[in-house]
Amino acid sequence: MSEEKILIFDTTLRDGEQAPGASLSISEKLEIAQQLAVLGVDIIEAGFPVSSPVQFEATTKIAGQVTGPTIAGLARANEKDIEAAGKAIAPAKKRRIHTFIATSPIHMKHKLNKTPAEVLKMAVEAVRFAKTFTDDVEFSPEDACRSEMPFLIEILTACIEAGATTLNIPDTVGYVLPYEYGRIIAQLKSDVPAIDKCIISTHCHNDLGMAVANSLTGVRNGARQVECSVNGLGERAGNAALEEVVMAIHTRPDFFGKDRPRPLTTSIDTKQIYKTSQLVSRLTGFVVQPNKAIVGSNAFAHESGVHVDGVLKERSTYEIMTPETIGLSGSRMVLGRHAGRHGFSSHCKKLGYKLTKEEIEQAYQRFLQIADKKKEVFDEDVIAIIDDEVRVVEHTFEMVYLRVLMETGINPSATVRIRSKGQLKEAQSEGDGPVDAAYEAIREATGFSPTLENYSIRAVTGGKEALGEATVKIKTDNRTFVGRGVSTDIIEASAKAYIDAINRMVARGQQDDEPSVKAEL
Ligand code: KIV
Ligand code: ZN
Repeated sequence: MSEEKILIFDTTLRDGEQAPGASLSISEKLEIAQQLAVLGVDIIEAGFPVSSPVQFEATTKIAGQVTGPTIAGLARANEKDIEAAGKAIAPAKKRRIHTFIATSPIHMKHKLNKTPAEVLKMAVEAVRFAKTFTDDVEFSPEDACRSEMPFLIEILTACIEAGATTLNIPDTVGYVLPYEYGRIIAQLKSDVPAIDKCIISTHCHNDLGMAVANSLTGVRNGARQVECSVNGLGERAGNAALEEVVMAIHTRPDFFGKDRPRPLTTSIDTKQIYKTSQLVSRLTGFVVQPNKAIVGSNAFAHESGVHVDGVLKERSTYEIMTPETIGLSGSRMVLGRHAGRHGFSSHCKKLGYKLTKEEIEQAYQRFLQIADKKKEVFDEDVIAIIDDEVRVVEHTFEMVYLRVLMETGINPSATVRIRSKGQLKEAQSEGDGPVDAAYEAIREATGFSPTLENYSIRAVTGGKEALGEATVKIKTDNRTFVGRGVSTDIIEASAKAYIDAINRMVARGQQDDEPSVKAEL
């Protein structure tokens, strides 16, 4: 029996990036987009091109360099936005304009100050204008779930006539419950004439924790595209989490598949899920909570004796999915210090990395250093090493030496030596604690003093020899930058994270990131 596909529309780079503090550089967006293509998403919403020159450039670069998925650009229902989106996505082989306007009484009155008739006219004109750039046009009635059903039916009908090919039904404020969302999709499917010419899409926010449940109920009722983001990143409480939507469909074929006239499926290579989640977490600085479904570090960990006993006897007693399905190796101990270059390289491949020879060599040298200190190197360690070592950001500053002295009753002191543009600069400083002392010395050596907004440290794996991964968020001129550092020594990891964030700040300094149009989403 042939399968029926659920299109996965990834909005990590657009709605996801709207999460406060989650701003990404152009090269980081490109790196995520490349990985989304490897993951197998059908559509990448690359950005909101009119909103800033960086958004425009990032969308254009993704459109020109990422092959496979359709590249979408977001636009409000006006000519300026649509023209910017049309130009930005032009280099893509498959391109889409996603245009939207709010349709709920509350948004039309207070935000747009427009009558329903005016909104309807703008929507139709927007779709028609978007069609002059591409055949593939998606229309979203923003805040659809708080809109009046007769108006929703009227505007969607008019947009189909104007040429829309996908109709997206956003629960913009994460307000409805699964039963209600399912009913909305079912009613639109039955009452909008010619809706079968279009794909119905879900776009659910997670304010009440219902985003995934709502999206899946939408699918059960006829939606064939799900808009979602990696790790559920997005405005406020976020969007439906891609990994949860995909694994629900994958794990419950009885619910989504076999018993239906045509089984439902997605094009996602589930083995790429963990790696994609880690990449997005690393680049945005949004740490994945340990108990996060599918990709949290505890998602496949069994602690209680009864559970461990059950899993050892028969895995399916307590595991509904295997870690291998999302790209984690089943056995946790993977590489010892005697693993050769070839073993290391093929292991990286198994984890889903496509690295150049030089990148392999770089990561391998780091692996050897770490394997010398740690007896066991786990998948998570290898991923952290690659993510730490193989960077897309240019290193303006490189730490070549760090010494931190601590003694009870005396302020800790730190000495750092930093290489920049072929020159070495040394600085010494004291601080309240060892990390503070190191940061003060780094500030002096680099000449940059951004505000430290956030600092966290976690063990990549368990055990006393675990790699420590530090994440910092710094702020300067209202922009935030995230840096990460990995080491078996947590003070060194912390210093590396701070320098990484400063490097990102310097790299971004060359880009004008200020929004030229205020995004009213
Ligand atoms: O949540 C929302 O309504 C949106 C639209 C732009 C689709 O993100
Ligand atoms: Zn949204």
